[in-house]
Amino acid sequence: MRELHARLGGGSALRRDPARVLGRPGREDAVALRVPRPSLAAVHDLRTVVAVQRVLRYPVPRPKALLGDALRRQLAGDVVEAVTDATAVTGASFTALRLEAAGRDSEVMRRLAAALAEAVGLPVDGNDGDLVVRARPEADDWVLLVRTTPRPLATRPWRVCDRPGGLNASLAAALGWLASPPAGPRVANPFVGSGTLAIELALADRRAEVVGFDLDPEAVACAGRNATAAGVAGRVRLEEGDAAAWRQADASLDLVLADPPWGDAVGSRATNRALYPAFLAEAARCLRPGGRLAWVTHEIELTRALLAGPGPWRVVDERRVWHGGHHPWVMVLERRSRRD
Ligand SMILES: C[S@@+](CC[C@H](N)C(=O)[O-])C[C@H]1O[C@@H](n2cnc3c(N)ncnc32)[C@H](O)[C@@H]1O
Repeated sequence: MRELHARLGGGSALRRDPARVLGRPGREDAVALRVPRPSLAAVHDLRTVVAVQRVLRYPVPRPKALLGDALRRQLAGDVVEAVTDATAVTGASFTALRLEAAGRDSEVMRRLAAALAEAVGLPVDGNDGDLVVRARPEADDWVLLVRTTPRPLATRPWRVCDRPGGLNASLAAALGWLASPPAGPRVANPFVGSGTLAIELALADRRAEVVGFDLDPEAVACAGRNATAAGVAGRVRLEEGDAAAWRQADASLDLVLADPPWGDAVGSRATNRALYPAFLAEAARCLRPGGRLAWVTHEIELTRALLAGPGPWRVVDERRVWHGGHHPWVMVLERRSRRD
């Protein structure tokens, strides 16, 4: 929401007709907005947003009612308008329609998919269709959510190299916003992996000078390829390094961004018991007083234990987020002054 308000709240089109939050359509990680047409492009430029969907709502109790003559015509017109607006804004085109719904193989859902596909002049492809339409009941209505881009916005064009445990780029961008107000330009990203956090921060903050490091030389090379593709290689320095023993001097950093191994796809719960305290101690040593550590972890019990009691950190923000099948924790910690 911070990026939304910062980027859309002040634009001239939105000052006349502001984007409005209408409510949460069934998930805590989704917001519904009324967006005037001139601001659609700005919505698609948001970096913390995973996907944009057009919400089409019909006051019917069962999906079969959507197939009646009048409603079917209205539905077809609405979906065509959603796709036309989307392609006008993003320039992208779709190849096939995929309907996602409980019971999507039922007769009714197959007819609904066929009707929608016919309206937009595309074939149905239940596996690889890139015009994704979700159908679901909501209160007394049926709702169609039409994704407005062939790929989620979180799929970044700069990603030419991937690594196990790679962070969702929209979540990476959100970490920078959660750590704001900007603590200053000197940033470190230990556990850099494919470079998602370092690159997203460098793209969002032109002043940022980021150093990213990782034990694995292949990760460092991968992050380098991505940074070059993103056009930020000049401001993202990448090197081999151990998150348990940083090269940075005491109090030399303004911001640290990190997603240490969660102990499943990368690392193990056993090695994390030694790695996490060492990483937190190094972050506390290298951040200046008032500097911030924004990080994502699924090691919730271990983290709680490490942060219990007095210590160098003040908790600024903590929240659970969705990430693939996980529900990790995002934390923003502020380095207390040495005298506190
Ligand atoms: C969860 S992944 C980071 C993913 C990364 N943010 C991305 O989007 O690709 C964790 C990374 O930590 C690295 N790593 C594990 N132990 C480390 C250590 N002691 N010091 C530095 N890097 C380490 C792994 O090689 C891996 O690249």
